[in-house]
Amino acid sequence: MRSARAGTSTSAELVTRSPEETEAAGARLAGRLRSGDLVLLQGPLGAGKTTFVRGLARGLGSRAHVMSPTFQLVRIYEGPLQLAHVDLYRLEPGAALADLGLEELLEAGAVVVEWGERLPAAEGLRVTLEPLDETTRRLRWTW
Ligand SMILES: Nc1ncnc2c1ncn2[C@@H]1O[C@H](COP(=O)(O)OP(=O)(O)OP(=O)(O)O)[C@@H](O)[C@H]1O
Ligand SMILES: [Mg+2]
Repeated sequence: MRSARAGTSTSAELVTRSPEETEAAGARLAGRLRSGDLVLLQGPLGAGKTTFVRGLARGLGSRAHVMSPTFQLVRIYEGPLQLAHVDLYRLEPGAALADLGLEELLEAGAVVVEWGERLPAAEGLRVTLEPLDETTRRLRWTW
């Protein structure tokens, strides 16, 4: 992984070559998460956001089956540290984000959000997943 520091923001990037590698990157990040941490995942359809969350949940010790919370906005994975998995794909534009109950979720554990682009003002670790080809993704972190 390469890191760079510019001003007050730090970034790092890595290229994964399979879903398993993206999952492993999520599992590694899990080891650094604390209650109250917010992870915002950005990237297009099929970029690997849910795959990354699968690794996060596994790394946090959850054995839950991770899939996109298509019909629920939030899914909760219990573990030593609770992980709330939020997917904003179906959020109506202009819908009240207060209704998400993000603050309460952050009090209860860590929170990961798919389509974090839709929370531009939220402060958290932003992970951008960029498809390079069928099996390759570039992951960039900024915090
Ligand atoms: N290096 C890679 N990392 C992650 N996924 C990969 C990679 N290479 C191929 N894939 C495939 O890309 C797809 C990623 O799907 P996933 O559901 O994780 O994406 P997503 O960003 O959550 O999509 P959506 O926007 O629909 O929620 C899977 O089919 C996975 O097998
Ligand atoms: Mg998804």
